[in-house]
Amino acid sequence: MPFVFVTTHLLNHALGLVSLEAIEAGRRWFLYLWRNPIGSLALYGAFAAHLGLAYWALYKRRHWRLGGAEWLQIALGFTLPFLLVEHIIGTRGAHELAGTNDLYAAVLLVHWKFNPATGIIQTVALLTAWIHGVIGLYLWLRLKPWYPRWQPLLYAGALLVPTLSVLGYADAGRAVVLLADDPAWLEETNRAIGWPRGETVRILIAAMNGTFIALGASLALTLAANLVRPAIERRRGVVRVSYPDGRTVSLPPGGSVLDASRQGGIPHASVCGGRGRCSTCRVRIVRGADMLPAPSPEESRVLARIGAPAEVRHACQLRPAADLAVAPLLPPTATARDGFARPIYLQGQEKDIAILFVDFRDFTKLSEKKLPYDVVFVLNRYFAGMGEAVTRAGGHLDKFIGDGVMALFGIESDARRGSREALAAARGMADRLRELNESLAHDLDQPLRIGIGIHVGPAIVGAMGYGRVSGVTAIGDAVNLASRLEALTKDYRCQLVISAAVASRAGLALPGRPRHQIEIRGRGEPVEIVVVEDARMLEPTGG
Ligand code: FES
Repeated sequence: MPFVFVTTHLLNHALGLVSLEAIEAGRRWFLYLWRNPIGSLALYGAFAAHLGLAYWALYKRRHWRLGGAEWLQIALGFTLPFLLVEHIIGTRGAHELAGTNDLYAAVLLVHWKFNPATGIIQTVALLTAWIHGVIGLYLWLRLKPWYPRWQPLLYAGALLVPTLSVLGYADAGRAVVLLADDPAWLEETNRAIGWPRGETVRILIAAMNGTFIALGASLALTLAANLVRPAIERRRGVVRVSYPDGRTVSLPPGGSVLDASRQGGIPHASVCGGRGRCSTCRVRIVRGADMLPAPSPEESRVLARIGAPAEVRHACQLRPAADLAVAPLLPPTATARDGFARPIYLQGQEKDIAILFVDFRDFTKLSEKKLPYDVVFVLNRYFAGMGEAVTRAGGHLDKFIGDGVMALFGIESDARRGSREALAAARGMADRLRELNESLAHDLDQPLRIGIGIHVGPAIVGAMGYGRVSGVTAIGDAVNLASRLEALTKDYRCQLVISAAVASRAGLALPGRPRHQIEIRGRGEPVEIVVVEDARMLEPTGG
């Protein structure tokens, strides 16, 4: 709304290039639009809301690592009210108090003849408002898919409107100064204007001074509140956000992951400045996913637009209440276009990845002996443990199949890293299972057991499914083989079976572990496998 007001004001000025009559006729339309009860309420309400939100954003701001456009927009936005006070009170205020007819001639006489300094201030004010609005529009519209096509036209408009406005204003001013040499015209015009006098002038000046003081004091108070807020918030504890390079940033609860990146000086893409629109700040949750608040409907909508898997969130919208580890997914130099570019693998791509299957052993026996409530309770604890092991290792939870889980590793990196992550996930699963068995020791006849199979190889990866039941998954021979390896854990009475390819890609020597050649139907060559009795015995392989 304020930007529409500024645009109409500038266009009105531009009519000065035509004639004084044209600029005055434009003003009448301008007043029809804005100086009626509805227009005034909407305009001043929008001004007040805009200013209030700006002060609130200033109070909440946790960092000052901003781009040039953001700095300029903030600086102009907070300068603007100070520049406009005199003009608004001098025109609208005088009109309401003294019935002054604030004709263009009145304003132009003041600005061009009686007090040229105010003319310069008002020109600066109008251009400041325009640039502030244009930057705001740019930060918003550049994320639209159609923006690149319309950009030249929008740029032309952004330059043309203020240029014509200043020229029209100068032309009309020059005409008024010439006319003012005629005493009869000046007397007639002064009578038509009805300048405020005496007590009214004192009231108007007091209103201007009071507004200046109120604006300055509220700005100073807001900045002071912003400075002391972190110290107060830290009394409620801190949340630690860890990054892949090992850095950890502490921030007070309520701060976003993007705030943590800014605070820690960690380069992090954020094209829309943290407004949740561009998706360039997205991160993969490596650890702590179970403690996170669910995404808001707006965040979910943007995540769905890029087909993001469940472990991906927007750093600017994610306000963790507990420690977590994240990995930013886009480079710090990402552009608006990158934000909505669907990763190539989502469209379907053959890629070497590691695939892990884990299955609950003897689940049927357990479910026969337990009440349905207990079965669901145990299953959910088991799913939570397995899911956490996968996401913590950096994998993608593909699906839960009955009492089994399928996970993919290396989708966004490579097979080497994927193999290492899958092995780390297997170790994590064994640990979670031990914890689960300890906590349920009194309720179980015998400990819960799992079987894990891991293989690495080429698979077709992509976003598949329909409607809400769609997501990133993988299909192909390598997937079937991983599932087969998981089934072999029953035959070998062990917890983990991996293909030799996984050990080789991960750089895992596994000396002394039994190796076997197995025949797989449909495969010409036998597959070499390594049998691991307990996945906790696996040596860490590093990142
Ligand atoms: S910074 Fe744009 S969505 Fe987070």
